[in-house]
Amino acid sequence: MTAAAFDLRVFPGPEALSHAAADLVNSLVYNSQPGKKFTVALSGGSTPRPLYSILGSSPYRDAVPWQRVHFFWADERCVPPDHSESNYNMARETLLSRLTLPEDHIHRIRGEAGAVTAAALYEKELINFFGADETPRFDLILLGTGNDGHTASLFPGTAALEEKVRLVLPVHPESTGPDRVTLTLPVLNNAAHIIFLAAGSEKSGVVYDIVEQGNRKKYPAGMIHPIHGRLTWMVDREAGATLSRFAVSIR
Ligand code: 6PG
Repeated sequence: MTAAAFDLRVFPGPEALSHAAADLVNSLVYNSQPGKKFTVALSGGSTPRPLYSILGSSPYRDAVPWQRVHFFWADERCVPPDHSESNYNMARETLLSRLTLPEDHIHRIRGEAGAVTAAALYEKELINFFGADETPRFDLILLGTGNDGHTASLFPGTAALEEKVRLVLPVHPESTGPDRVTLTLPVLNNAAHIIFLAAGSEKSGVVYDIVEQGNRKKYPAGMIHPIHGRLTWMVDREAGATLSRFAVSIR
């Protein structure tokens, strides 16, 4: 299967990766249509944490027109919003608490209500915000991937990957850990821009399979490609260790 067009950027380490990602986020928001809402869906995990901290610090805290930004999440764990495993809590600690934002700009997934209820509530919020006539189109979605190739809370081999209608699904992970709520592929692939962040050697196999081999069926992360949007893979040298010079030249 041919690899779909995308941008690939490889950085010396996670710090350079996070700073470059902050620059890209800043430019996307700054250059978006003035006066128009800018919608972003965040992921959790360890990879984006430094990025969120950089965005919540000078100069980005003061430079980015945050008052236009509406924050959503690509997925969430079914835990209280102040729980250490909450993706909302991580973003609040690192970024949101440092910004002055109207409450109605934060659209968290109410994981504490349980996966089925939280998914229904979040889907209703997306429909209310984006309208019922078309699939929500986020201006930006930040995604990571696990070393099993999952992204958001879409895990390999699960029925959620076949969903074509629902915007949001409850997830009962086969592994241990809390239930989750996730955006579905139709929503993710309707984004205007997706930034995939991957750092660390444990991600090199997935990155190689997807980025260089163009394998878009083996992993959920490989199934991500905006239909009418841009995809930017930003990886550090460890995660990109097995990429050939050819792949790295795709920029
Ligand atoms: C989550 C994330 C998830 C994450 C990957 C990578 O809620 O767990 O949204 O999809 O992006 O698991 O996590 P790391 O960045 O910690 O490797």
